[in-house]
Amino acid sequence: MLFAVVALSLVAFARAGETSLALGSPTYVAQGVFPTEAFASYYNVPTLTDEQPQPVITNVLTGKVFAAGLTDPKNIPVNDTSDPRTYPPALLSTDAAGPLVQNAFNQIVNIANLNNSGWGNNCSRCLAGLEVAKAVALVTPESIPTLAVNLCNYFKFSTTCQNTYGPLALGQVLAQVLAAADVAGYDGQNICNNFVSGFCPLPPPSPLNMTGYFAKPKPANAVAPPPSGQRARVLHISDFHLDARYATFAEANCTSSLCCRANNPNSHSLNQVLLPAPRYGWFTCDTPYDLALAALQAIPAVTGTEGSGFDFTIFTGDLVSHDPENELSQTYVEYTETVLYDLYKKYLGSGPIYAAIGNHDSYNQAEDAPALLGTQLGQANLSTQFSWNYDTLSTLWENNDWISSDVAAMAKAHYGAYSVARPDGLRIITINTDLWYKANYFNYINMTKSDPSGMLRFVADELQEAEDAGERAWIIGHVLSGWDGSNPLNNPTNLFYQIVDRYAPHVIAGIFFGHTHEDQFQIFYANNATNISAASAGAVAWIAPSITPLTNLNSGFRMYEIDAVTFDILDAHTWYTNISATASLDNQTAHGPKFVYEYSTRQAYGKSISWPASAPLNATWWHKVTEEFEQNPALIQQFTTYQGKTSVLSPNCTSAACVAAKICYMRSGSGPIGKTCTQGFGSVQ
Ligand SMILES: *[C@@H]1O[C@H](CO)[C@@H](O)[C@H](O)[C@H]1NC(C)=O
Ligand SMILES: *[C@@H]1O[C@H](CO)[C@@H](O)[C@H](O)[C@H]1NC(C)=O
Ligand SMILES: *[C@@H]1O[C@H](CO)[C@@H](O)[C@H](O)[C@H]1NC(C)=O
Ligand SMILES: *[C@@H]1O[C@H](CO)[C@@H](O)[C@H](O)[C@H]1NC(C)=O
Ligand SMILES: *[C@@H]1O[C@H](CO)[C@@H](O)[C@H](O)[C@H]1NC(C)=O
Ligand SMILES: *[C@@H]1O[C@H](CO)[C@@H](O)[C@H](O)[C@H]1NC(C)=O
Ligand SMILES: *[C@@H]1O[C@H](CO)[C@@H](O)[C@H](O)[C@H]1NC(C)=O
Ligand SMILES: *[C@@H]1O[C@H](CO)[C@@H](O)[C@H](O)[C@H]1NC(C)=O
Ligand SMILES: *[C@@H]1O[C@H](CO)[C@@H](O)[C@H](O)[C@H]1NC(C)=O
Ligand SMILES: *[C@@H]1O[C@H](CO)[C@@H](O)[C@H](O)[C@H]1NC(C)=O
Ligand SMILES: *[C@@H]1O[C@H](CO)[C@@H](O)[C@H](O)[C@H]1NC(C)=O
Ligand SMILES: *[C@@H]1O[C@H](CO)[C@@H](O)[C@H](O)[C@H]1NC(C)=O
Repeated sequence: MLFAVVALSLVAFARAGETSLALGSPTYVAQGVFPTEAFASYYNVPTLTDEQPQPVITNVLTGKVFAAGLTDPKNIPVNDTSDPRTYPPALLSTDAAGPLVQNAFNQIVNIANLNNSGWGNNCSRCLAGLEVAKAVALVTPESIPTLAVNLCNYFKFSTTCQNTYGPLALGQVLAQVLAAADVAGYDGQNICNNFVSGFCPLPPPSPLNMTGYFAKPKPANAVAPPPSGQRARVLHISDFHLDARYATFAEANCTSSLCCRANNPNSHSLNQVLLPAPRYGWFTCDTPYDLALAALQAIPAVTGTEGSGFDFTIFTGDLVSHDPENELSQTYVEYTETVLYDLYKKYLGSGPIYAAIGNHDSYNQAEDAPALLGTQLGQANLSTQFSWNYDTLSTLWENNDWISSDVAAMAKAHYGAYSVARPDGLRIITINTDLWYKANYFNYINMTKSDPSGMLRFVADELQEAEDAGERAWIIGHVLSGWDGSNPLNNPTNLFYQIVDRYAPHVIAGIFFGHTHEDQFQIFYANNATNISAASAGAVAWIAPSITPLTNLNSGFRMYEIDAVTFDILDAHTWYTNISATASLDNQTAHGPKFVYEYSTRQAYGKSISWPASAPLNATWWHKVTEEFEQNPALIQQFTTYQGKTSVLSPNCTSAACVAAKICYMRSGSGPIGKTCTQGFGSVQ
């Protein structure tokens, strides 16, 4: 047994130690016929050019085959009633509570109308309304969806009230959060800032007392190890967003929500499709199977890893498509997780894949509950309501031999996140960033605390173990911690920033995110960025381009050349396919989309910086690159082109305001720091 383990690691690391890495062919043209060997069997004929393949997939946990109807593009299931709904304990049945709920509705409407009498401001009225709703949630939680939908309709808050807040959508989540949150205080102020049209000003971050937080002080001589001269290859893919319900030739110019769906027309042209969805994807749509397999076949070819594979791969989350809430279900999420992880296994070679959960890889979308919720509300299963997902993901990862059973057990118990100490000296720490994502309603419980879930304590403890063991670490998550600060919550990312400062640069060799679908980066500095300079830059987070073209982007992926001993990044190579060219590929089988090399990060930037060829693209280098951007704003336009993977639809960034804002985002590693930048230039979509 011992012998077998040793032999395996020799094989696994035989390629680490190369001193220069050759890439594959500069371009790859996918075959025009769907590679039918991708799956064992199909519900339809997979090689048709006017519909997408429909593979037959089996659920790893139940052993049951997913029904054809789950992904039938012509008849998309809505209003899933089979998933369990989780409510806090009730004091009154919904029937008995009818008058009380009607009363609450009237009270909230009256409170809102007090505006006309001059009573209070928007914030105080919003908080008062939440208090009435909380009373309902504590007495009759299952009435909350009805109350929410009625208020939503009354205030014209949305055009899809029932489908978004009803009992088969987010209603159950609202009930739990109202029951548990301090709605009159900090939690309520944040809810009324983020979800109710800015009715309250955003409260400032909580004071952070770091005294005693870390087990040991930062070592005096905390520097990164010197380059080894040996290289390894790491693939970074993100935001795949497979759309198994993509309908080729359906409306790609739909009026709202996810296009290329048979049930989502252009409201101005109900009887005629204005822009038929191309077989290989479109800017307004998620990834169809035909594009998915073209990309997965392109990866080994262009990266030069055919036959050998990568040393390892990181996937920074989001497998599932951007469906409206009432078209999603646990089963649909499980289906997509199963399909894509199996395809990764099949096409990306033998190296392990380390994956972080994305906000779309959950149901309800973006939701994940803190472990203490069940204790707080007196019903244990409120703490385990997402375990079905952590079980599915960790089982898939373990079955694919990417993580051991011990690590899988850790992921099941830690929100789908885990840590792996690789035998080569790299510790991979994944995090479930739903726990700092502003769209996760559960984060609005106990918001004054910076780490109510305990996730960041876990990260700090793992980094301490890495420091003690002389290892280096990579942190892998989905929702980025900073940039313009519009996605992450302030308190958790403020704490994360301090943790990064403590363990950079000697332990942390890289941080990796996705979520925005765009090619970006963010730098972390010492002392909470109070003195931004090359000398204070400690870590950098790489945000990978997405496979999905949604929205207005090309489809792309990246490979890092890393130092095989220090795990610092030496170069990043990015490829993409031009989505504006997909329409010409319809109705033929001669060839599919062409993937092309976009750029080498090392060659694109830093020409004016004196930097030895052996030195890594670390935070010091990236800070100097931002100084180069200040000197030469034309380079920001180059950055902006790459940000959207060279999409023909990306806007430029030529104004002084845009240039300054982007440099500010690049230097922002937390929500509070990002929010100090001028807003409005973060995205190219
Ligand atoms: C789904 O539920 C909504 C709201 O209850 C309802 O309007 C719609 O008719 C339902 N659709 C189907 C197909 O059951
Ligand atoms: C959670 O527990 C409660 C109380 O035991 C029970 O009524 C409810 O059905 C459970 N919910 C789920 C989704 O298991
Ligand atoms: C609420 O009051 C403010 C300030 O008096 C006013 O500008 C606003 O139009 C009012 N809104 C509504 C919905 O009555
Ligand atoms: C209060 O809310 C109303 C309704 O949305 C809005 O018209 C008004 O501008 C808000 N007032 C302030 C001071 O934000
Ligand atoms: C900070 O935390 C430490 C350790 O828990 C405590 O001794 C100290 O009083 C706290 N400081 C403040 C200002 O709260
Ligand atoms: C897309 O639809 C809009 C109307 O919703 C229309 O103005 C526009 O011309 C359409 N574009 C294409 C390419 O069909
Ligand atoms: C919120 O904080 C209170 C007080 O510390 C604690 O009892 C409760 O479990 C916390 N709830 C959650 C969901 O973290
Ligand atoms: C900020 O850092 C620069 C470069 O290391 C240094 O010259 C300067 O004195 C620092 N300023 C402050 C206020 O610490
Ligand atoms: C980055 O690498 C350079 C060159 O090896 C080194 O001088 C610098 O200290 C490194 N910066 C960090 C943050 O590790
Ligand atoms: C491709 O086939 C579709 C459906 O049969 C048809 O509507 C479309 O015009 C064809 N496109 C081309 C370029 O021939
Ligand atoms: C950049 O885009 C703006 C807004 O679309 C446009 O006005 C401007 O002319 C563009 N500048 C360049 C240099 O293309
Ligand atoms: C870090 O800086 C931000 C932005 O100025 C601030 O909001 C936050 O409170 C600071 N965090 C700490 C721990 O000082």
